[in-house]
Amino acid sequence: MTTLAFNHEEITARALKPTLLELDGISRESVEAHYKLYEGYVAKRNEILSKLAEVDVSAANQVYSEIRALKVELSFAVGGIKNHEIYYGHLGGGGGDPEGPIATLIRRDFGSIDTWRTDLKASGMAGRGWAWTAYDWDEQRLFNYVGDTQNTYPIWNATPLVALDVYEHAYFLDYRTDRGSYIDVFFDNLDWTVVNGWIQAYGISP
Ligand SMILES: [Fe+2]
Repeated sequence: MTTLAFNHEEITARALKPTLLELDGISRESVEAHYKLYEGYVAKRNEILSKLAEVDVSAANQVYSEIRALKVELSFAVGGIKNHEIYYGHLGGGGGDPEGPIATLIRRDFGSIDTWRTDLKASGMAGRGWAWTAYDWDEQRLFNYVGDTQNTYPIWNATPLVALDVYEHAYFLDYRTDRGSYIDVFFDNLDWTVVNGWIQAYGISP
């Protein structure tokens, strides 16, 4: 028997920051329910890796459809983890116009803060699950990307710096179907210090 028992360790969900329970316009109930989904992605990631470790690749050919299903599901779970860790990581601040290096990058690559905000909001209205502002290392500039689910459509060699969750679960409790009002409130709660910390940690130079 040959298995896919590659080395891996279980991971744990990050703790919920107290400031996330006091967001402006996004209720504690909504954040708590949403956070449980994030914890679910962490559990799912660990579960799928355990399952992959038990797959016997010396078995019949149908094992490959099982591997495909597990690895696709894994990308969904890991996407769900990464997306939400960015989302929760940079919420809990006072919003307002970006400051520091992120503001310099946005003005350089979009022309103005308003143009960037309008484009990201439109991307959020258009996508089914996510909109991101990410730094593309090949073009050395920011773009706003759209995502339908946790694992679509990341771009290789791009690093997300803003992650806007537009799944209904992010706003339905507070705004019902009014996604636009939720997106406005999302901007009001961003912590630009956190985003600038990422820019520094990743070595992105404006
Ligand atoms: Fe979400």
